[in-house]
Amino acid sequence: MADIADMKMISRRSFIKGVIASGAAVSSANYLFRASALQGQSRAAGTGERLITINVNGQQRRVDVMKQETLAWTLRYKLGLTGTKLGCDRAECGSCTVLIDDVPHYSCSVLAHTVRNRKVVTIEGLARADGTLHPVQQGIVEEQGFQCAFCMSGFIMATVGFLKTNPNPTRSELAHGISGNLCRCQDYDKILSATMRGAEIMRRANRV
Ligand code: FES
Ligand code: FES
Repeated sequence: MADIADMKMISRRSFIKGVIASGAAVSSANYLFRASALQGQSRAAGTGERLITINVNGQQRRVDVMKQETLAWTLRYKLGLTGTKLGCDRAECGSCTVLIDDVPHYSCSVLAHTVRNRKVVTIEGLARADGTLHPVQQGIVEEQGFQCAFCMSGFIMATVGFLKTNPNPTRSELAHGISGNLCRCQDYDKILSATMRGAEIMRRANRV
């Protein structure tokens, strides 16, 4: 019995570790539907695209954007950075959170053309080039912080942004700091334990 529990734990841990750096989890069926629907809307709007350069995860990315196009849309469907999730698409859930100049933003509510000359970081940009996870990601792996993980990348980005302003928060300070993010599985207690662990790992890493 203990062996089966251990195997389940190891397999869940491996799964989370495998997807956590890219934020790539969860069924894509909903996205496919949403993508075609939104693309239809975009074409119907009939607005021209404009070539702009956005600094994403330290790289200058050239991309054609429409004037009404959101950053979430550009990241996911034009730059292939699907770790940024679209949940509500109306500034309510936080699934789409990215950092813009180190500050967490709902990318579904930011127009892509407004981030020219600004620094955008998505979940794909957190781990080091050698694959070492960001401390907050490592905390999630160690504490098994999420159930379906749809909300995970948004929570991680919100936490990373919050810890830049308060690297040593109390549990309630961190809860308040990331309260703009919602979890449909209502896994808040575990999420908070995991993100607190991430903060602790980050403080330890900064000391060495
Ligand atoms: S998808 Fe942006 S806040 Fe919900
Ligand atoms: S873990 Fe499922 S939505 Fe948060």
